[in-house]
Amino acid sequence: MDERETAKRRAGESAAEAVEDGMVVGLGTGSTAAHAIRALGRRVDAGLDIEGVPTSFQARERAHEAGIPLTSLAEESPALAIDGADQVAGGDLVKGGGAAHTREKLVDAAADRLLVVVDPSKLADALDHPVPLAVLPDARRTVAEAVREQGGEPQLRRAERKDGPVVTDEGHLVLDCDVGTVTDPATCTRALSTVPGVVEHGLFVGMADEIHVGDEEGVTVHTPGTE
Ligand code: A5P
Repeated sequence: MDERETAKRRAGESAAEAVEDGMVVGLGTGSTAAHAIRALGRRVDAGLDIEGVPTSFQARERAHEAGIPLTSLAEESPALAIDGADQVAGGDLVKGGGAAHTREKLVDAAADRLLVVVDPSKLADALDHPVPLAVLPDARRTVAEAVREQGGEPQLRRAERKDGPVVTDEGHLVLDCDVGTVTDPATCTRALSTVPGVVEHGLFVGMADEIHVGDEEGVTVHTPGTE
């Protein structure tokens, strides 16, 4: 396992340790959250009694493989969610690199606490990673125009090993929007979410309760808002 993968594994395993018996747990998407799911699976094998709420098709599959019993947001809200991120600045995140941010935001926002798991490459002083928008397919042109009017540069996310665009688990298309440096995340959030046809954007503002950062030495846990 290379250094970055080791860092991701350490972050995931660290967050998985925060899970307690009887909890409903939001299960994030991506390669770092997958380490947390595997670590939780090992704890379930050892007797931990939890139920998971998956944030995507991928998270559901990983949970099945790990032997974690599942429930849904329609039935229960998580006490804690563990999720990855594409970029982290304080308690603000850009997510959606795996096109799962619509359901991730639903589950992460419903959780009492959100633990974010990353390697150090994801940390930034300010968010400047392109922000993914999940859009209704028919709205892709009008949303792109609205984003350009706001000063952003949208790009339709293309699929790999499939002709045409990425289609999300919910049937939406993804516009990756370069909006420069996000100096005021709350204002940017409002601007993006009021565009008709935008189902969800990948800015998660002030949602993270803990950031678990794995590296080659171990894990550092940041608590945004208290540092
Ligand atoms: C999924 O849509 C994303 O929000 C992921 O959580 C994010 O891309 C982090 O993934 P990695 O841990 O694989 O970098």
